[in-house]
Amino acid sequence: MSISKNVKLPHMFYGGDYNPEQWPEEVWLEDMRLMKQAGVNIVSIGIFSWAVLQPGPDTYDFAWMDRLMDLLAEHGIMADLATATASPPAWLARLHPESLPVDENGARYSQGSRQHYCPNSKAFRLYGQRLVRKLAERYKDHPALAMWHINNEYACHISQCYCDECAREFRLWLQRRYGTLDELNARWGTNFWSQKYYDWEEIVLPRKTPTYPNPGQQLDYARFMSDSLLDAYLGEQHILKEITPGLPIMTNLMGAFKPLDQFEWAKHMDVVTWDSYPEPTAGGPVFAAMQHDLMRSLKGGEPFILMEQVTSQVNWRQQNPLKRPGVMRLWSYQTVARGGDGVMFFQWRQSWAGAEKFHGAMVNQTGDENTRVYREVVELGNELKKLDAVVDSRVEAPVAIVFDWHNWWALELDSKPSRDVLYLDQIKQYYSVLFERNIGVDFVQPDADLSGYKLVLAPALYMMKPGEADNLEKYVQGGGTLLTTFFSGIVDENDRIHTGGYPAPLRKVLGLCVEEFDPMLPGQRNAIEVSGLSAAGNGEYSCSLWADIIRLEGAQALASFKQDFFAGSPAVTVHAFGQGKAYYVGTQGEAAFTSKLVGSILDELDLSAPLSAPSGVELTVRTGRDGSRYIFVLNHSAAQAELQLPEGSFNDLLSGSRFTGSLQLAPNGVAILSAEG
Ligand code: GAL
Repeated sequence: MSISKNVKLPHMFYGGDYNPEQWPEEVWLEDMRLMKQAGVNIVSIGIFSWAVLQPGPDTYDFAWMDRLMDLLAEHGIMADLATATASPPAWLARLHPESLPVDENGARYSQGSRQHYCPNSKAFRLYGQRLVRKLAERYKDHPALAMWHINNEYACHISQCYCDECAREFRLWLQRRYGTLDELNARWGTNFWSQKYYDWEEIVLPRKTPTYPNPGQQLDYARFMSDSLLDAYLGEQHILKEITPGLPIMTNLMGAFKPLDQFEWAKHMDVVTWDSYPEPTAGGPVFAAMQHDLMRSLKGGEPFILMEQVTSQVNWRQQNPLKRPGVMRLWSYQTVARGGDGVMFFQWRQSWAGAEKFHGAMVNQTGDENTRVYREVVELGNELKKLDAVVDSRVEAPVAIVFDWHNWWALELDSKPSRDVLYLDQIKQYYSVLFERNIGVDFVQPDADLSGYKLVLAPALYMMKPGEADNLEKYVQGGGTLLTTFFSGIVDENDRIHTGGYPAPLRKVLGLCVEEFDPMLPGQRNAIEVSGLSAAGNGEYSCSLWADIIRLEGAQALASFKQDFFAGSPAVTVHAFGQGKAYYVGTQGEAAFTSKLVGSILDELDLSAPLSAPSGVELTVRTGRDGSRYIFVLNHSAAQAELQLPEGSFNDLLSGSRFTGSLQLAPNGVAILSAEG
């Protein structure tokens, strides 16, 4: 089995991180047997093997890796070979203490856990890239080598470094970005608080300061760190591309993870892969679904691979309950339902020593075949073999949510009207309504081509960079429906106010002006009287967090505030603009209101779920290149679910059963329906 650079496998990927260097070699053979039994077709190896592969600056030990690669090839299991740079060996820290990262107080981190490197460290880059070259040269023609896994979860523990090497690189980065100090001073607004710079050397990293550092500086530092980590990735990628030009290269991302601008990163990855560890709470599956959608969207809807999840329980939350029987299977199919072409785990065999010995795995330390978890692993791996037809199909999504990492960084900088306005909370509120209604969602950047979407939601789009407002305006003008919310269109790409009255760049399309905003205290409520929706949506709802004091300039009020000095003024509006409509929500309504509002817009646009389903049942549709449609039905509820099917008969790819009229699904049950004939 081989895969090409565009990562099209004839089968779903199934496997996990494999760390056989933690075990005597006789265990490896047993691992092969158990893997084959479980349908494993790929394993990620070498992720944390740097110290074992390189005992000293000039000595390497590849013998064990040679035997491992051969063993995998003999058993027809592909290697997702890591570059091993995620955890530098102790000798590097000893020889080059400056390669260790520094925190915002100027204190250096120690070696002894993992990810203890500064991404800009010359020593880290030099030794890391040397190892990458050796690995690539050695294994470039090995039959087991299928894909490169650079580093691991960049920024997972250390997303910021404040060392002197970073400071030097930051100045160079700023020089490239702004050219002159005059430009930088203007962009950062440094006439404020006597922050003006006269020499590049005066510019430091935003370490601990008496009070708020300059917002433009903080924002650029966030960009610079994302770019620095990406540059470390690209340094390794460059070598791999040179030596193994046909092989896919990626690193594992982390979903809605703030430190990295993952739209930018994905441009440099041949396939998006990510690691999903949903909270063991009721909200877990919704947020996991949202992140699957986000990860799928990074490369415009191309299938992604779930590189890590856990079979049973993690070891790093306060309490680590087990996934209940059937939940691992259900959540694995949620991945596939939302565009995953692979389901993998951390890790294959549970460690017996080290900090992750209580973290669940595909088999336990003793390799016991007679466990619930291993039985579920075997069942899933063999079942996934039935999904070859689904591989490389695309998820249907008529709605887009605008998502922008730069906006996230800027929105959550300090010194704001309210610290409680958090980007993911705002996005999640709107995503949840679409999830509950089983409407497919893509995530897009604010300058994306929106013409294929019937509805675009842009919650809390605080920062609007040049051209973005025009893009939204053009979309509405051409017949699109846009919804945005309070504290949108406020600042430019340097966190400077867009002058001309809030929200200046959106005033025309929204047909309103926000004169003032009044953030609410924790627990404080106002209420809105809704009169502009259908009868079922009208009425009184509570609201919290924020109130905009809105002056209409062509928009029409759908709801108005009930209390306070601005009682009677508009809270929610709609503006007919060009061929389309722009909605504005100037407060945070209770969940029932958001659901009614979005629901009424969906009704008006004639957007509905692929089937009608009881609450707790998740539905998505993937469409194959040949036009075949696969309807995924996932029962997250604790009750048996009954769904009415449309005319015709449907085949369930998993059970092989044929259904007409209706479908019964047990709790945690999954069906993948394709219409017959
Ligand atoms: C991930 C990491 C893995 C493992 C796992 C445990 O963040 O990539 O190496 O530590 O978490 O949940």
